Amino acid sequence: MKRGLFITIEGGEGVGKSTNIEFIKTTLEAQGIQCIVTREPGGTPLAEEIREVLIKNREERVVSETELLLMFAARAQHLHQKILPALEAGTWVISDRFTDATYAYQSGGRGVAAEKVALLENFVQGDVRPNLTLLLDAPIEVGMARAKNRGALDRFEEEESAFFNNVRNNYLERAKADAGRFKIIDATQTLELVQTDIKDVLQKNIHPQ
Ligand code: TMP
Repeated sequence: MKRGLFITIEGGEGVGKSTNIEFIKTTLEAQGIQCIVTREPGGTPLAEEIREVLIKNREERVVSETELLLMFAARAQHLHQKILPALEAGTWVISDRFTDATYAYQSGGRGVAAEKVALLENFVQGDVRPNLTLLLDAPIEVGMARAKNRGALDRFEEEESAFFNNVRNNYLERAKADAGRFKIIDATQTLELVQTDIKDVLQKNIHPQ
């Protein structure tokens, strides 16, 4: 049994991750690849409960370390209960966010040292890393306008624009430093052009067995 590939989709708020994840799934399935779509924080019933705790607006200040640990608590559950069993069964996993989001939001956005994220990454994941990561990139104004159209803002979406600029810059810096795994997609283009780029990236970077 050939192990499945692990693909992640990253980006700021409102860059079109959901629409394009479905496109990736359809594209892979058309090549006869069995795959599942999942998301973080979340992906299993317990991890989805942790997600609710994380995104809920609340009076109490959420300490950055608490937020970081909850992200990794949800991730440990998701990884061991869903992602790894699927990969081992030969199913490909497409996840709407993974640990790159923790570097971008908790380190880039909140200012937690990247070394602390790396420590937890190694502790929770061992050597498991995505095989391919698509970063949907757009200036924050574009994404925030789309996010606001979706309705009430959650605890993250309520942040100031400086926070989202830091998130975006962190994603871009890390993507440039690891260009083998990360592919940056310009999400300001029309949906048709975004999907042409995605298809191109998939063709060049994945090799169905
Ligand atoms: P979503 O909007 O992609 O569903 O994700 C919910 C929020 O969680 C989003 O604002 C980004 C944030 N997040 C982090 O801050 N760190 C993480 O590690 C992940 C996976 C998400």
